[in-house]
Amino acid sequence: MSAATSTPLPPSSAGAPLLHIEQLHLWMRSFEGEAHVLAGVDLSVGRGEVWGLVGETGCGKSLTGLSVSRLVATPPGRYSQGRIVFDGQDLLGLDEERVRPLRGRRIGMIFQDPTTNLNPLFRIGDQLVDVALAAGARSPQILGLTPGASRAQQRAAARELAAQMLERVRIPNARERLDDHPHQFSGGMRQRVLIAMALIGRPDLLIADEPTTALDVSVQAQILSLLKEMVAEYRMAVLLITHNLGVVAQTCSHVAVMYAGTIVERGPVRDVLAAPRHPYTRALLKSIPTRDTPRGGLEGIPGTVPDLVRPPPGCRYAPRCVRASGACASAAPGLVHVAAAQAAAAAHEVACFHPHTSG
Ligand SMILES: Nc1ncnc2c1ncn2[C@@H]1O[C@H](COP(=O)(O)OP(=O)(O)O)[C@@H](O)[C@H]1O
Ligand code: SF4
Ligand SMILES: [Mg+2]
Repeated sequence: MSAATSTPLPPSSAGAPLLHIEQLHLWMRSFEGEAHVLAGVDLSVGRGEVWGLVGETGCGKSLTGLSVSRLVATPPGRYSQGRIVFDGQDLLGLDEERVRPLRGRRIGMIFQDPTTNLNPLFRIGDQLVDVALAAGARSPQILGLTPGASRAQQRAAARELAAQMLERVRIPNARERLDDHPHQFSGGMRQRVLIAMALIGRPDLLIADEPTTALDVSVQAQILSLLKEMVAEYRMAVLLITHNLGVVAQTCSHVAVMYAGTIVERGPVRDVLAAPRHPYTRALLKSIPTRDTPRGGLEGIPGTVPDLVRPPPGCRYAPRCVRASGACASAAPGLVHVAAAQAAAAAHEVACFHPHTSG
């Protein structure tokens, strides 16, 4: 990537993480009543960090990502408390007009379903070139140009960058394929085009919601290693939403485990996966199929995620928890460091009254 390496980093508040979600509470109006779907989410993502956000379906992972992109409609959503601070400004305090320039440029997004994101009417190359031109208008260095470059030079550079990005996401014959329309690509290929599109403008923060779930295992591994490469190259911050702990182990520097709208455990991947402290994290790890798991032998975790219109009092995991005591139903546990002497940046934290004490 010739044009890519010399760009200076945009300014960021000194010492503060690029993204800081603090005590975020979101309610969703539904048929049965208002569901308390995010119940005090705390999460910070710094430049150069890849945070995996894991948990069963319905735990609030996508709504957390959509909240950062400010894509939760209000109503039916309602934020009752909390802040989402991105590079020093609270996104929840911004109106749509001020959020729009951030979305897709400084905050890139990749969602699971590729059919909803590409315009079927336009050639892939034109769609990529548009995104590259918009990014080039913000920072001409992205196109490898100086500020006075002509429109024709900008278009040529944007097309070159589009071809390079398609090559990087392993689209065969990338240059020729710029002239194809989305329907000429398979689902997996379209997802790779979307990944190229999200990365072409070099966002400061990337939210990727199950980005490789639709891809076969070998392409998934290539894409995840590309993501890691780009994080190192551009010092991006990434929030990678996945239900797959294998993907987390392979790709992420940090992990946050989510249950029923709360973060129950978080920290560096090596600490959390090697020595999980929360009963839910342990149960998730145990439910990963291994080579020795007999076909159909996967148990999963007994019970289901609670109804969030009427969540259980105290710890939301209590009805399924093997370690629950009377105290667990009377108050909700907050995140605390598992070791008193840990540096804040590297903290391994758990929200549980009776955490496991060793690996
Ligand atoms: N638009 C919506 N209206 C009402 N409830 C919703 C809406 N979107 C999601 N939810 C509910 O919020 C909870 C969290 O959903 P989601 O963030 O999609 O979970 P995950 O991504 O972890 O599977 C679920 O109980 C889901 O049913
Ligand atoms: S607080 Fe109690 S119920 Fe909740 S996870 Fe810990 S032991 Fe289980
Ligand atoms: Mg989801």
